[in-house]
Amino acid sequence: MQVSAARPLKARRCGPLRGTIAIPGDKSVSHRALIIGALTVGETRISGLLEAEDVLNTADAMRQLGAHLTRHGAGQWSVWGTGVGGWAEPESVLDFGNSGTGSRLVMGAMATTPITVVFTGDESLRARPMARVLDPLCRFGARYTARDGGLMPVTMSGAAQAICIDHKVSVASAQVKSALLLAALGAPGRSRIVQDVMTRDHTEKMLAAFGADVLVEPLGNGEAVHVMGEIELVPCNVEVPRDPSSAAFAIVAALILPGSELRIPSILLNPRRTGLIQTLLEMGASIVVENERQSGGETIGDLLVRASTLRGVEVPPERAPSMIDEYPILAIAASFADGKTKMHGLEELRVKESDRLASIAAGLKANGLSVSETVNSLTVEGRGVDGVPGGARVATHRDHRIAMSFLMMGLGSKDAVSVDDTSMIATSFPEFETLMRDLGADFQAVNA
Ligand code: S3P
Repeated sequence: MQVSAARPLKARRCGPLRGTIAIPGDKSVSHRALIIGALTVGETRISGLLEAEDVLNTADAMRQLGAHLTRHGAGQWSVWGTGVGGWAEPESVLDFGNSGTGSRLVMGAMATTPITVVFTGDESLRARPMARVLDPLCRFGARYTARDGGLMPVTMSGAAQAICIDHKVSVASAQVKSALLLAALGAPGRSRIVQDVMTRDHTEKMLAAFGADVLVEPLGNGEAVHVMGEIELVPCNVEVPRDPSSAAFAIVAALILPGSELRIPSILLNPRRTGLIQTLLEMGASIVVENERQSGGETIGDLLVRASTLRGVEVPPERAPSMIDEYPILAIAASFADGKTKMHGLEELRVKESDRLASIAAGLKANGLSVSETVNSLTVEGRGVDGVPGGARVATHRDHRIAMSFLMMGLGSKDAVSVDDTSMIATSFPEFETLMRDLGADFQAVNA
């Protein structure tokens, strides 16, 4: 496994951001399009696929499992799958790099096929908990061994005679729910997967579009998803909408840099992904959604973002699943707001690409902010649009979203902010640096 050399970068205070930014395809939808395509007999055509390291690792895994993939041009791909239960045993270890989503979804998708697969990843992924997915998958009849009981490398053998399950997911994770829904496709009968919070629903939606028998039933504060197994999926064309989690960095930068005006076309506005926009609106942000429409079963729209005076707010725990990847950049918005922002229900941030709660708090403190952190919450004392000191070099712990967030801080803080590495931004948003520079961002290379 190759670890690329660290590429530190400095961001300096700059003028307004102006123009239009073409955000790349959504990461969650891209992984699912490749995996569900590989579970379908016939050609699945994908447009707007995110061609970032995480998704390309999933594409490689699909090839190793027997699917045929062709790239026709930028973001234009075809997948010829082998059908539910039709995956072949790979000749080599599957290396998912940095991607929790890719690896966990593939664990689910193979768990009811009688093949053995070895999963590994980079240093960050090898430290992330896998038992949350692997243990429930054993209920379908799969078996696994893992380092220290639940860490990669993981060797998993799919069930030879799978059985359907009725299971309540104990963590607020769309990855775990999705892994179980994909596994259910290969088990005879109807499985029921219950979650008492609403996590992102791209897997359910895409499975339904591919002809799966999926039924979603509201249940308490969450829902039960019923999936019929041993069915044939029908090929479908997938148009990947643009990623709101990548757009988040440009949105916040435009809000905090006076005079900015930014257009962000065709962004995914699935209500289970829009918690950040909702929170920023509550903080006083000027974000207008124009031309809201449906595309491939998802709501999309064009955003118009104008610089705004933000005020601190309280972000309730139940909003966390709809903005789980956006807390690092929300913390930057909170730093430039007037007053205090309190974010609750952040326990899942501890097990992301880094311990994100700790990474955010340390980065803010290093840059002169007053912050308090508990096991699952964060409070940031905002310093107003002109008052963020900056001046520090932030330890990213090789976490792409920490790197992008603190670079946005440096565009508005008094002193420049640098991050110790930007190479891993390519896992989710390879065009980040170029696109932000095109809007007017001032980034400077620095020595490692
Ligand atoms: C994802 C779900 C989230 C999110 C991740 C993508 C998905 O993880 O953090 O970046 O595509 O299902 P959890 O569901 O584990 O919180």
